Amino acid sequence: MMDCAAIVLAAGKGTRMKSSLCKVLHEIAGRPMISYVLDSAKDAGIEKICVVVGHQADRVREILADQNVSFELQEPQLGTGHAVESARKSLKDYQGHVLILCGDIPLVRSSTLRSMIDFHESNGSRLTVMTATVESPYGYGRILKSETGLIKSIVEERDASELERRTKEINAGVYLVESSLLFKLLTRLRPNNSQGEYYLTDIVTEANNDGIPVYAYSITDFSEASGINSRADLAYVSKRTFEALARDHMLAGVTIIDPGTTYIDWGVRIGLDTVIWPGVVITGSSTIIGERCSIEPHVFISSCQILDEAKILLGSRLNQTLVSEGASVGPMAHLRPDARIGKKCKIGNFVEVKKTSLGDGSKASHLTYLGDSEIGANVNIGCGTITCNYDGRNKHKTTIGDNSFVGSDVQFVAPVTIGQGCVIGAGSTITKDVPDGSLAVTRAKQKVYPLRLGQGPKIEK
Ligand code: UD1
Ligand code: CA
Repeated sequence: MMDCAAIVLAAGKGTRMKSSLCKVLHEIAGRPMISYVLDSAKDAGIEKICVVVGHQADRVREILADQNVSFELQEPQLGTGHAVESARKSLKDYQGHVLILCGDIPLVRSSTLRSMIDFHESNGSRLTVMTATVESPYGYGRILKSETGLIKSIVEERDASELERRTKEINAGVYLVESSLLFKLLTRLRPNNSQGEYYLTDIVTEANNDGIPVYAYSITDFSEASGINSRADLAYVSKRTFEALARDHMLAGVTIIDPGTTYIDWGVRIGLDTVIWPGVVITGSSTIIGERCSIEPHVFISSCQILDEAKILLGSRLNQTLVSEGASVGPMAHLRPDARIGKKCKIGNFVEVKKTSLGDGSKASHLTYLGDSEIGANVNIGCGTITCNYDGRNKHKTTIGDNSFVGSDVQFVAPVTIGQGCVIGAGSTITKDVPDGSLAVTRAKQKVYPLRLGQGPKIEK
């Protein structure tokens, strides 16, 4: 294989995004768009990758810290040609060919880059540009060719004549150039265009001036060339990415009822025979869902571990939570950070759980708040139970032992500890510890008085 390094352009602000975040860090399926470009380059077999940073350089460097790439700073940002020039230092002794990629084309595939390298090599090319023929070329540089099919020049939308704009073959923003030729041609660029920038695309004209043929590597799936310049482009590419990720899960044995309305982030792992209903959103690359689980409609899951045969019922939200084997959660449950639900537990409707563990087989079936608590195994939490964990200043802990039964509408005023095998009477407000094997009731005795004539509810005739 030909010796090949890569430069990825990521210094631009992305003015058209109208954002305080630089463009290449905008996320697609939970991951910055530039990471997809870097993956494709690596998977194509390229080891030496230089990322040109500028706008929010520190942030880009930090987010890509574990990507095994080097960085060069482009300051100020004077265009794509100037960006590549900034990488001269890191490639000055490099004799091979350089693959240049824009950081805003995340759909480009490694297999396509691989084929482009092969194409470049087999033609003995010194400069190859990836092109695509698209229905609406608006915003892209147009490819102007000679009769022989070689590229004469690339003209940007804003600098193009009416006639040139009709060209539907566009510059995808991927180039393969012999290193020494690249850095020679770059010195000749001038910012004489509508934006006053140094355009990388002008190296094509310069190569032609030297009689060097410029080859077009045309791709068939034009969506791969989709560049992200606006939020609308971001939405389009996100959609394509979610569809592709869903396809991978389906191929791996996950049932997704409607991939078009299911959003599973990059990196999420899902086990065999799990069924995912429409409207589900699963975020956080650390999320794991086990085998034979069921995730019902409109569930939101973020950075969770959900183990085999768990059921997450309609409309629940789970964030940084563990749900163990065979447990059932929802409908409409809210599991917040550090909720740890044991095996075969049942968390029912309108139950909120935060920083609380429930032992195996415990149940909180209806209308309950459990916060800062440690609940044992086989505990029944009655409807309407509340752990009063906050005194206005600090959070306090509630502990309930194994096999205890909590009646409906109980408040635990924390800090408080209930032993094992206890019964707490319905409607009690528990403020003191309860030892193992006891019954605790705090409610007032029921009193009954006869009503006098004219008192009580009016009875409509
Ligand atoms: C560029 C191409 C256009 C092509 C399109 C493909 C030029 C002049 N035009 O246009 O022909 O059809 O990509 O998507 O190259 N960048 C820097 N430093 C800069 C300016 C940009 O690093 O000074 C980076 C950006 O961060 C971005 C990439 O280069 O990742 C492309 O820049 P962008 O402004 O989006 O170029 P386009 O107008 O899309
Ligand atoms: Ca672009």
